[in-house]
Amino acid sequence: MKVAVLGAAGGIGQPLSMILKNQLPAGSSLSLYDVAPFTPGVAKDLSHIPTDVCVAGYCGDDLSKALEGADVVVIPAGVARKPGMTRDDLFNVNASIVANLVRNCAKVCPKACICIITNPVNSTVPLAAEVLKSEGVYDKHRLFGVTALDVLRSETFLGEELGQSKLATQVPVIGGHSGTTILPLLSQVVGAECISADRVKELTTRIQNAGTEVVEAKAGAGSATLSMAAAGARFALKVVKGLAGEPGVYEYGFTEGGSEYTSFFAQKLVFGKNGWEKVCPIGTLSAYEQECLNALIPELNGNIKKGVDFAAKWIAENK
Ligand SMILES: NC(=O)c1ccc[n+]([C@@H]2O[C@H](COP(=O)([O-])OP(=O)(O)OC[C@H]3O[C@@H](n4cnc5c(N)ncnc54)[C@H](O)[C@@H]3O)[C@@H](O)[C@H]2O)c1
Repeated sequence: MKVAVLGAAGGIGQPLSMILKNQLPAGSSLSLYDVAPFTPGVAKDLSHIPTDVCVAGYCGDDLSKALEGADVVVIPAGVARKPGMTRDDLFNVNASIVANLVRNCAKVCPKACICIITNPVNSTVPLAAEVLKSEGVYDKHRLFGVTALDVLRSETFLGEELGQSKLATQVPVIGGHSGTTILPLLSQVVGAECISADRVKELTTRIQNAGTEVVEAKAGAGSATLSMAAAGARFALKVVKGLAGEPGVYEYGFTEGGSEYTSFFAQKLVFGKNGWEKVCPIGTLSAYEQECLNALIPELNGNIKKGVDFAAKWIAENK
């Protein structure tokens, strides 16, 4: 299995690559690419960790070499939020970066599963789909927005709330990956019946704003990197397990299809040999969750449209 990380020298890319170096199955290879010229040095550094995963680093014009034969491509390339910025503020810079990287994937590794971390995920994933369509290689089962960090945060906050192991806490998180489009389904968490309605609202708001908690705490030095690396690695390793034929592997992710609400939607995905194989139903919602879901649909639709519109313009200007 070959996994390529694009944006590998960044705040997310480096720890993500380290987790993959430590946890990919023996015999896999890891390919690191970033515009930063020290990227081969990051690969050299990781190569001294004694696991049976080969690492190579590429920068500058060597993107094609980095992508050759890739089964999974993880993309954290781009710029991160500073205090006062929303994920949507990142759109213009990050959209062109993602469009260009995804077009290269289409040309060099058209069958790869592409996992997009670059924000705003609600827009960069529909944009990527349009670029892949324009290259004639789009397969909705192989394109994902990584929303797993919302799940990790929910597991942490709910585990704390219930006074139980975070490792034993499971929380479905559906919708999108920005503000109120993030919808944790706390009514479905085992043991959460004891949490009051007001507290459920507080916890929901905390999960939705958790990224901003980190941006403010880092005071201008960026957004979540280490927890995002953990989330990105958890997601990518599950995609790898699915491709390798391991049964019953699932995670929440943002993809096209399987939702009656919006064209792209985050929900529970079951992975298989061809990417995601099945989207699981969202189950029964509480009245509060249903209200939140109704409210998020127009915003998520707007975010999706923004990505699609950008792609049309970018494709026309970059023939
Ligand atoms: N999905 C999520 O839950 C989530 C969470 C946190 C951050 N993010 C997003 O992840 C992205 C990266 O965040 P970060 O903190 O690692 O930022 P960072 O600035 O530390 O790193 C970004 C890296 O991307 C590289 N890069 C820029 N343009 C590139 C290109 N064209 N090709 C290859 N590499 C390129 C930069 O050189 C840099 O090394 C941001 O968009 C951020 O908003 C997503």
